[in-house]
Amino acid sequence: MTTVKSAGTAGRILVAGGYGAVGATVSSTLGAWFPGRVVPGGRDRARARRLGGVRVDVTDPDGFRHVLDGLGDVAAVVLCVEPPDAAVARICLERGVRLVDVGATARLLDAVADLSATAMATGAAALLSVGVAPGLTNLLARRAHEAVGGAERLDITLLFGTGERHGADALRWTLAGFGEGATASPRRTELPGHGARTAYPFPFSDQHTLPRTLGVPDVTTRLCLDSRPLTAALFALRRTGLLKAVGRPRALRSLTGALQRIHLGGDGFAVRVDAWRGDRHTAYALTGREQSRVTGLVAAHATRELLTGSAPPGVHHIDQLPALSALPEALSAHGVALRRLVGGGGEDRPRSPSGTDKVRRGN
Ligand SMILES: NC(=O)c1ccc[n+]([C@@H]2O[C@H](COP(=O)([O-])OP(=O)(O)OC[C@H]3O[C@@H](n4cnc5c(N)ncnc54)[C@H](OP(=O)(O)O)[C@@H]3O)[C@@H](O)[C@H]2O)c1
Repeated sequence: MTTVKSAGTAGRILVAGGYGAVGATVSSTLGAWFPGRVVPGGRDRARARRLGGVRVDVTDPDGFRHVLDGLGDVAAVVLCVEPPDAAVARICLERGVRLVDVGATARLLDAVADLSATAMATGAAALLSVGVAPGLTNLLARRAHEAVGGAERLDITLLFGTGERHGADALRWTLAGFGEGATASPRRTELPGHGARTAYPFPFSDQHTLPRTLGVPDVTTRLCLDSRPLTAALFALRRTGLLKAVGRPRALRSLTGALQRIHLGGDGFAVRVDAWRGDRHTAYALTGREQSRVTGLVAAHATRELLTGSAPPGVHHIDQLPALSALPEALSAHGVALRRLVGGGGEDRPRSPSGTDKVRRGN
């Protein structure tokens, strides 16, 4: 990996959650690009110190402020753990510190987006929807949207590997998502390397932000796991309402711990985005391995862009920054494969949104 010569601004880069499943990749990738400037942080003081980092707790705004004061010249903060609210984002933006947030909760991203005026006043830029979903899903959504000349509907489908060592914070988020109801219907679609799969609506933030950033009225994100039996069992349980109990902190902690020990399938992931406009249809897909690592790579690229590129002040989602639109291609060096499934050269017949590859039960 090459060091970034024109490092834009000097100053340190604080990676909160910087030794977790996502954060470890962010810290090591940025560390190679910006030697001596990366500070990994977490609540475990000894672990953070061993890595040359600091103790930081994103649930404690006063403590977070002290950490920034102690570090002195901080150019950027990368949030690789989900805070309870927008307090730490506000602290960063009020000081003119750039911010990258890998969070996937719409409510929290909206709260950070509301700080855009603060960011513009201090000249800071913040980037949200950073990772695989949201993140690469947003970038593919924009491509597909533009390819059909302005989509009326976007269907985003994700497949996650149950064999990957997902971090505790990501598992907590996913389990909490099973406790939320869904209004859209499941959808059966083809995922490269995984065949025809049924995916179920899941509360990823991309479907909430893309209607605003792209102006597409109807966006749904659905999830399936590489294990067909586990997908069927979890979503059947969700229909019974039993998984609502998962939202309770104790149940969430026990289940997260248990699931971290289970590795049923592989570590591959797949993303597919279908865009529809009248009888026009296009679809892009991405496949790769270890979505936590790829999320970390996306976050590292996003941070480098904020530090060395020309992102305007304010709060942006990744699909609003043209400089990052070719990120899927840039990640091919890390095993991420992008393909156009429908609409490129007639590989597949266009279908209408109400067509046969729509909704069906079973996996
Ligand atoms: N956008 C995407 O596609 C995408 C994909 C994957 C994950 N994510 C998000 O990324 C986040 C991290 O996921 P992960 O898989 O890396 O989880 P993880 O492995 O559990 O990592 C979380 C890290 O944050 C630290 N941490 C936990 N609570 C903290 C706090 N209050 N203050 C500061 N540090 C804290 C943890 O260390 P200590 O316990 O020692 O503090 C740990 O190092 C999650 O919010 C997840 O939803 C997004």
